[in-house]
Amino acid sequence: MAEALRVGIAGLGTVGASVARVLRDKAPELTRQCGREVVVSAVSARDPKRDRGVDLGAAKWFDDPVAMAQTAEIDVFVELIGGDEGPSHSSVKAALEAGRHVVTANKALLAKHGVALAETAEKKGVLLNYEAAVAGGIPVIKTMREAMAGNSVTRVFGILNGTCNYILTRMEAEGLSFDACLKDAQRLGYAEADPTFDIEGHDTAHKLSILTSLAFGTRIAANNIYMEGISNISQADIRAAGDLGYRIKLLGVAQRTESGIEQRVHPTMVPTASVIAQVHGVTNAVAIETDILGELLLSGPGAGGNATASAVVGDIADIAKSRPGFQHGPVFGLPAKELRPYKKAQMRSHAGGYFIRLTVHDRIGVFAAIAKRMADNDISLESIVQHAAGPDTALQKTVILVTHETTEAAVRRAVDGITRDDHLTDKPQVIRIERAE
Ligand SMILES: NC(=O)c1ccc[n+]([C@@H]2O[C@H](COP(=O)([O-])OP(=O)(O)OC[C@H]3O[C@@H](n4cnc5c(N)ncnc54)[C@H](OP(=O)(O)O)[C@@H]3O)[C@@H](O)[C@H]2O)c1
Repeated sequence: MAEALRVGIAGLGTVGASVARVLRDKAPELTRQCGREVVVSAVSARDPKRDRGVDLGAAKWFDDPVAMAQTAEIDVFVELIGGDEGPSHSSVKAALEAGRHVVTANKALLAKHGVALAETAEKKGVLLNYEAAVAGGIPVIKTMREAMAGNSVTRVFGILNGTCNYILTRMEAEGLSFDACLKDAQRLGYAEADPTFDIEGHDTAHKLSILTSLAFGTRIAANNIYMEGISNISQADIRAAGDLGYRIKLLGVAQRTESGIEQRVHPTMVPTASVIAQVHGVTNAVAIETDILGELLLSGPGAGGNATASAVVGDIADIAKSRPGFQHGPVFGLPAKELRPYKKAQMRSHAGGYFIRLTVHDRIGVFAAIAKRMADNDISLESIVQHAAGPDTALQKTVILVTHETTEAAVRRAVDGITRDDHLTDKPQVIRIERAE
């Protein structure tokens, strides 16, 4: 049997401790599958005394993950610290430069430094595997990088943040407010004490930037993503969506258009009957549309110790199965030097249907004025409905418009016009409608 693969794990938190546990509990299966043993020979975290729930006594302790990355006592450096700078970046860089394979679950790091790290990995002939960085346990990276050769991707989109999907699912199922659902998510450990990163779309954007690169062969450009979070989604939106046959989901969408690649993260309305609308709670899903395959939807657990460890262990096993001298495939599907600069499509040129909810003064002429603003901007309406804004608001009405395909620019001009007409009593709500099978 080949020599054991020696793994060093940096970061022994939720994911790191789970990875150590799975490697211990599944050692016989892994040895059979890989044709060699996989052993944890080194570990690093901040607190050497903390109980990790798994005996790591046989592994050498390193206070400094960079020193562990450089030691000749490991073959694979597994980075599970998190963060896009500091110890995670310096240790991954050091490991690759020292000729160690790297496995990471760190989307923030890849969104910022992925291309440079891929260049180093390819130069050194080592693997940089990151299956757990996007959609946790769902094998989307492998699917896009390995199983779809020859396909041209037209659109990739998904529910990439379990916290947001949990909140939106409960708002719809139980009629609760955004704030009440967020508090529950925090109590149950689905949301951080500071939830901004999740609910404002940053986490989804990091993951989307990696998927975009794989889908379109572009350099990662996480800073170029149009982003809106879910904090202004109200019960009125959820109810109106349901009445119209839609469900609201926070999606990350990357799409090839005539003017470039659109990358956007925002609440969307998807048809209630579509497959992605059935993805509830903390579950993640990724849809990939290609010319040869058609539409593929992968769904499953997007976070949590075990699900994430499953992806990390899969990445480690791939390294255990690879043989010295074997030429590894490029990190982002194409050699890092061939990844093209990203040609950004302006959000104003986005084409699609729109849901617009307006709260207006209940007075003569308002309805006609709204319809005129729409017509002036060549927006054709699928429906326009007016009803009382609520039991305590006799002097206000709600107007809900659903447009046929139009552009973001036209909608913004129309809504700006309506706002200037001084008929609104509240901020207008605009939610894009996403085509989904
Ligand atoms: N949690 C999930 O469900 C999930 C899902 C997908 C991807 N990820 C990604 O996986 C990574 C880890 O997430 P996590 O939830 O496991 O984080 P976590 O529970 O906060 O664990 C982080 C670990 O890093 C260690 N650490 C921090 N600074 C360090 C330093 N300077 N040197 C050495 N170790 C250091 C901490 O040590 P101490 O324990 O001693 O403080 C801790 O063990 C992140 O990139 C995250 O985005 C997580």
